[in-house]
Amino acid sequence: MTNVTVVGAQWGDEGKGKIVDWLSERADIVVRFQGGHNAGHTLVIGGETYKLSLLPSGVVRGKPSMIGNGVVIDPWALFEEISRLEKQGVRISPDILKVAENAVLILPLHSNLDRAREEAAGAAKIGTTGRGIGPAYEDKVARRAIRVCDLGDEEILRLKVDRLLVHHNALLRGLGQPEVVAGELVAALLAIAPKLLPYSSPVWRDLEAARQVGKRILFEGAQGMLLDVDHGTYPYVTSSNTVSPSAGTGSGMGPSSVGYVLGITKAYTTRVGEGPFPTELNCAIGQRLGERGHEFGTVTGRARRCGWFDGTLVRQSVQIGGIDGIALTKLDVLDGLEEIRICTGYRLGDQVLDYLPAGMRAQRDVVPVYETMKGWSTSTHGARSFDALPPEALAYVRRIEELIGAPVALLSTSPERDDTILVQDPFSG
Ligand code: IMP
Repeated sequence: MTNVTVVGAQWGDEGKGKIVDWLSERADIVVRFQGGHNAGHTLVIGGETYKLSLLPSGVVRGKPSMIGNGVVIDPWALFEEISRLEKQGVRISPDILKVAENAVLILPLHSNLDRAREEAAGAAKIGTTGRGIGPAYEDKVARRAIRVCDLGDEEILRLKVDRLLVHHNALLRGLGQPEVVAGELVAALLAIAPKLLPYSSPVWRDLEAARQVGKRILFEGAQGMLLDVDHGTYPYVTSSNTVSPSAGTGSGMGPSSVGYVLGITKAYTTRVGEGPFPTELNCAIGQRLGERGHEFGTVTGRARRCGWFDGTLVRQSVQIGGIDGIALTKLDVLDGLEEIRICTGYRLGDQVLDYLPAGMRAQRDVVPVYETMKGWSTSTHGARSFDALPPEALAYVRRIEELIGAPVALLSTSPERDDTILVQDPFSG
């Protein structure tokens, strides 16, 4: 038995929530290791829909869950989410949820700055979720962030807030915005401290103790590999490393703890926000994918951009992220299409490329090279075995495996948990 790390292999929204929920039954602990409440994971359990942003998906089933040091935490958003889930009957307490004491906090000044900067950027905006993710990670790397543990030491907290505001108030003055008053920020943090501190823990030690007794850990990634701050479509990315090795650094475990890497991959492609998208479909087919796939952001409600499956980009994710196998989701959204296209490479001027180069101009200008496959008219919705798939759908799945160089370990055919075809159990390695 091994640990499993789940990452998105595209631009996020691949359906990680359902797969993590499905896997969490086999896991002993579920850990979030990067991102923050920019994520949106939807779980459908027994007809009830749960929407999670910051909490590891395991909490819905009462699994021990942890928020690692690599996550940025808006404590107010965290308790809003907890109380929303409690209204749906989910009990969350410090005995099942632990929050890394060394995780960085997202403060109201981060979300305000995120939105102000996006507004000021006009056409050059990134299309962030406006949750303050980027500014919080900037403060972390600049060594001026407030961390969970600081809430337990008022003297240190005051010192750190003063230091933080030297930077932020200068920025706010430049943007023509009102400055933050140190005393007010400290008071707000001291008010939330008694709620958050009971959850605070040296998560790395908790995980080490779990490792020593052979517990199975499920690492739950957020966003997708093409949004990785190093390997994604920079600068149209999020501000964390979404790749699988972050499971170790973002929780305090060694590289071998990452275990089997499962890349969640949608049978077509979507993206929210700005940035390059070579296989985007600005036509009736794109609209149809969006409608049939309910492609609206969980967090912001924005309509997602839709396009054909990009085998070149997913292959890149498989190679960079060390993806061992994929969970292919939403195949049924393609039901009824006469023809389906798959991108196998790009043309850039007179060059033919089998990868997406890093430059902004190249990423904007590449033209996809497509292969056309026959569609299928019968429904794949809710199929529970490969034999139940129409031959054209099976051929599509096999072609995807060939193009990306990784096997389909799981195939999800509806949002319902049981509509999942297991080919290879990731926990068995
Ligand atoms: P940020 O993470 O809010 O800074 O946003 C940066 C980019 O990542 C934007 O294009 C967002 O739309 C995108 N993004 C952030 N979180 C998610 C997610 O969970 N799913 C899909 N896209 C996301």
